[in-house]
Amino acid sequence: MQNLNIVILAAGKGTRMHSTLPKVLHKLAGKTLLQHVLESAKTLSPNKVVVVYGYGGTQVPDTFVNEEIIWVEQKEQLGTGHAVKQALPHLDETGKTLILLGDVPLIDIKECQTLISNTEKIGLLTVKKMNPYGYGRIVRNNQTIQAIVEQKDANESERLINEVNTGIFVVENQSLKKWLQQLKNNNAQKEYYLTDIVSMAVKENITVSAVAVQVEASVEGVNSKADLAALERVYQRGQAEQLMQQGVTLYDPARVDIRGQLHVGEGVEIDVGCIFEGEVEIGNQARVGAYCVIKNSTIASGSVIAPFSHIEDATIGPNNRIGPYARLRPGTVLAEDAHIGNFVELKNAQVGVGSKINHLSYVGDASVGVHVNIGAGTITCNYDGANKFRTVIEDYAFIGSDTQLVAPVTIGKYATIAAGSTITKDAPADALTLCRAREQKSVVGWKRPQKIKKDH
Ligand code: UD1
Ligand code: CA
Repeated sequence: MQNLNIVILAAGKGTRMHSTLPKVLHKLAGKTLLQHVLESAKTLSPNKVVVVYGYGGTQVPDTFVNEEIIWVEQKEQLGTGHAVKQALPHLDETGKTLILLGDVPLIDIKECQTLISNTEKIGLLTVKKMNPYGYGRIVRNNQTIQAIVEQKDANESERLINEVNTGIFVVENQSLKKWLQQLKNNNAQKEYYLTDIVSMAVKENITVSAVAVQVEASVEGVNSKADLAALERVYQRGQAEQLMQQGVTLYDPARVDIRGQLHVGEGVEIDVGCIFEGEVEIGNQARVGAYCVIKNSTIASGSVIAPFSHIEDATIGPNNRIGPYARLRPGTVLAEDAHIGNFVELKNAQVGVGSKINHLSYVGDASVGVHVNIGAGTITCNYDGANKFRTVIEDYAFIGSDTQLVAPVTIGKYATIAAGSTITKDAPADALTLCRAREQKSVVGWKRPQKIKKDH
């Protein structure tokens, strides 16, 4: 599309959000509302994107430092027309400007594209509302748009109109400049209404184009936490539909949350209550049990994640078994066929083929070889309060339960560590190493304590 400018209005406070955070910085599916709009805007390859900010000072621009955006401050929120006017100095001499709203996160760019190609001088997206209260009404004479009348300025018959202004406009740049200069605030709200440019165009015998959108959510603005939650559900339902189209079995499509991108292979199954954040990849036939939280991780084919597991920045190879209640922290790499069981925490740990860490262990900053067995309650003591150290456990080693491995330390190939040992020095290959507080002894004739009898 040639010479397209995009202006995004994002200066409003969002009074009904009851929050100090500017409205457009609230999150939907893990991303700010404005980020959603920016990403959609970019798909149109505009010449420039101008964002009008205001409430909350530089908080909004500071959130998007790496984006190619022209930031324009609207110091006082004097209306939507006043807001667009702030962007004028940055708009191209020729071409059109698409005006989007920073609080309409699910904007349908296809509808915008249709509008852009249907518009010569001025056009807008409209939508029909069951309850049009609060919106600008589209006044038509026969089919031709005559004006937009705001709720507070509308008379009784105008209030009955249920076709409303979405706030999304396309205007040819020269006309936009001309009309915005002429705006007045002699209305019920003493605001400079962008919507007044419609009647200005009509006065010049210019046809106002309109595209009536079918999906209400795609032009729905967020004004309250309830609106935000409702759009979140719409968005998540859409993600769930897409996954099912790709062949994923979702045990309940209403109970999965994707806050980022989920890439899936074939035959993937996902039980209820799972949350996926950032970039997550799940390979063929892999299964994710109920209530798992998985962030920026790869899970290769055939792996099974049992319920209530947390996985972040981890790479999980094929056919591993994880959880229930496992926590895989950043830097965890599992090769193949490993078992990571309940209440096991791994951090920056690389685990080889066929190794088992089945119960109640902490393994951090460690390399674990192939076919290693780590008994219940094993702890790598990787931190001395100042620095972190590595533990190396070589292939086929067997670590007895309740062992502390005080890093830096290496356990040799085929080594066995007796249960309850505190290992502070390297343990040689093939040998049994043990280090317990004292030898076991038995006290013959020892009596168990009795319960003290009370008088009453
Ligand atoms: C506006 C429209 C109305 C339309 C409705 C759709 C006008 C006069 N009215 O209503 O016809 O049905 O949107 O939601 O345009 N904003 C600024 N600076 C301002 C005022 C607003 O940046 O000075 C931004 C807000 O942050 C928001 C958007 O513009 O993103 C719309 O503002 P809002 O106050 O919600 O719209 P209304 O005036 O109620
Ligand atoms: Ca609004």
